[in-house]
Amino acid sequence: MISEKMAKALNDQIGLEGYASYLYLSMASWCDKEGLGGCAEFLHRQSAEERDHMLKIFHYLTEVDQHALTPSISQPPHEFESVQALFRQVYAHEQKVTLSINKLVAMATLDNDYSTISFLQWYIEEQREEENLMRTILDKIKLIGDGPLSLYYIDKEIEAINNAELASEGNEE
Ligand code: FEO
Repeated sequence: MISEKMAKALNDQIGLEGYASYLYLSMASWCDKEGLGGCAEFLHRQSAEERDHMLKIFHYLTEVDQHALTPSISQPPHEFESVQALFRQVYAHEQKVTLSINKLVAMATLDNDYSTISFLQWYIEEQREEENLMRTILDKIKLIGDGPLSLYYIDKEIEAINNAELASEGNEE
């Protein structure tokens, strides 16, 4: 059993993960429209991952006898200034999610809610990995620079990162 306050905060987190899933889906669509197929694939995979993050909390709430609520999700932006700006936005969103997870852990600690503290450990590790991944992408984009073929190379680079992520997911199974 967890507190009502904790359940409400976890339901809010469901909304944040759901928004991330929609945001990355919208970004994938923009990338496809711009001919950035590698970036689109990467973002589609990230979008599916965020849906999984949302569902994990959903199932946890059910498991601890609380009511998991389907979130209302606001419409994400559909247009992005550039691929660089888009990935800066992804990184900023991941940082926001990390802050929110940290707040949940702090709340669970005050509540002596060891079940939720244990459940959230997975998210702490996931956020560290996701922030690191997005920083790596931003570093690569910076290295490639603004030359005439830069979009082509950025797309190839992100396609390679996506393939590496897919391979590592396969190894985890
Ligand atoms: Fe589930 Fe990447 O935040």
